[in-house]
Amino acid sequence: MGYSNNNIILIFLCITNLLRFIIGSSSSGDFIECLTVQLESSNSATDDLIYTPSNNSYASLLIAQNLRPGSTSPYNKPLIIFTPFYDYQIQSAIYCSKKLRIQIRVRSGGHDYEGLSHTSRDNPFVVVDMRNLRQISIDAEQKTAWVEVGATLGQLYHTLAQKSGTLAFTAGVCPTVGIGGHLSGGGYGMMSRRHSIAADHITDARIMNVDGQILDRRSMGEDLFWAIRGGGGTSFGIVIAFKVNLITVPETVTVFNVTKTYEQNATQLVHRWQYIADKVDENLLMRVFLRSVRSLTTGKRTVIASFTTLYLGGVEDLMPIMKVKFPELGLVEKDCTKMSWIQSVLFFAYIPNQPLNVLLNRTTPFTVYFKGKSDYVTEPIPVDGLIGIWRFLHEEDENMAEIQFSPYGGAINSFSESETPFPHRTGNIFMIDYGLSWDSPGNEEAEKHLNWMRRIYGYMAAYVSKSPRGAYFNYRDLDLGVNNYSSGNIIGSYDEAKVWGMKYFKNNFERLVRVKTKVDPSNFFRNEQSIPPFPLQPMYSS
Ligand code: FDA
Repeated sequence: MGYSNNNIILIFLCITNLLRFIIGSSSSGDFIECLTVQLESSNSATDDLIYTPSNNSYASLLIAQNLRPGSTSPYNKPLIIFTPFYDYQIQSAIYCSKKLRIQIRVRSGGHDYEGLSHTSRDNPFVVVDMRNLRQISIDAEQKTAWVEVGATLGQLYHTLAQKSGTLAFTAGVCPTVGIGGHLSGGGYGMMSRRHSIAADHITDARIMNVDGQILDRRSMGEDLFWAIRGGGGTSFGIVIAFKVNLITVPETVTVFNVTKTYEQNATQLVHRWQYIADKVDENLLMRVFLRSVRSLTTGKRTVIASFTTLYLGGVEDLMPIMKVKFPELGLVEKDCTKMSWIQSVLFFAYIPNQPLNVLLNRTTPFTVYFKGKSDYVTEPIPVDGLIGIWRFLHEEDENMAEIQFSPYGGAINSFSESETPFPHRTGNIFMIDYGLSWDSPGNEEAEKHLNWMRRIYGYMAAYVSKSPRGAYFNYRDLDLGVNNYSSGNIIGSYDEAKVWGMKYFKNNFERLVRVKTKVDPSNFFRNEQSIPPFPLQPMYSS
């Protein structure tokens, strides 16, 4: 009696899965044992710190706005989620991770576009979730703040609003995004034309290095301090807190959100917008959101362009600017609303008129399967190029694909390309964020939408930056390339990483590799798109 090929494959898969289960559960047990011993030796209670899949809270701790990475292969979920309350407790996780050769992932807000803070292609791994390290202390007189990485942008904005009506911080729009990933990777928001990105305002940091030491700006040195202001924290250590300079905003600001359909000349308006978006008064940031919807009047699909805008000043100053620079939009005073800066935060987060406490929520009820990508535009896209984009938008279900045009210029250009690892400065008119959501699970469904994303990205090559084609690190995209750690090689390849590294960081990639080689030559802190160290040079004896 012989076995068919199918049966042999089935038996092989069963054995592999059994081995994985045995190795996985023993690794988990070993790690918990090691962690418990370490924590107890530092007099830490271990309650509410360690979560395994058998724990009721494990799944809810792991939940992220983007369901795709955890639900499609080849990603794995963590053996353990470790949620330290004190910075010294993180040392225990680093110690055990090294001892047991189990990889660490660090998570602050969990918004990574590819889920790299809580999923991994490497098995097994543990997550150090920084959610309990979220203290914020503000020095209103000096206009500075120390912000622990587990705080969210919403918590920071809320804390500032409690302190003063005019102290603010320049960072992203989504309140549930975490400080740790956002600030270390850049941080673009509605005030970026006036005040640049979040990373440009970091003046100090506390980071735990591969030896478990806590370093500040002075002890880490300027190279490492440079690297974690746009090069991502994850390649270099575990960032515990950032010190930032705050900004002052007017007591009232002006917002508007004017939407035009294709039939109302949206194409010409978006085309015209490209000639002024990065050049107007830097207090004015007009973002364009493009979607395909069903028209309420005709019942047919149409493209809409929403000009979503913040002006750091009064409507009486805004109207003359708009009349001179963008009369085609036909903005009238009644389109505009005056409000405090903190109310504008709620407005742009699509939660207007809610109590401010809503900013303290760490999650939103809207979880979706999501894929994002980014591009930079240095020459206006011609009208027929825009019409091609509209065709792509119509291919997906209504409202599910959204393309954002986010203007650059202004204060973003007051930094040179190499001042921080974030290189997208002078010469960029706007950044594109391609976003696509769907609501059914499974690899087949995902592949259908990922294919749309790759096709539109291919189509856009003619219209965006080249050599390298730029990408925004905080809109992480594993299609650009991944580190290959196969065959026990955990160092990765400089040449492979350079492909995506140049897109995110341009020539800063080289310096990031040098910093990495200095602070973490064995590549302890790594993920699918972390900065690799240069390989160790062989030693020759003469
Ligand atoms: P998460 O915890 O997933 O971490 C992201 C990466 O940073 C991971 O690689 C992680 O390991 C690493 N990391 C996190 N904490 C660390 C730490 N303490 N030390 C070392 N490494 C650490 N961006 C933008 O510029 N403007 C915007 O308006 C928005 N809006 C937005 C909305 C939504 C819904 C999403 C999903 C994302 C955005 N973003 C954004 C992108 C966002 O800035 C980016 O995903 C950040 O990396 C998210 O940081 P989190 O800490 O939330 O993510």
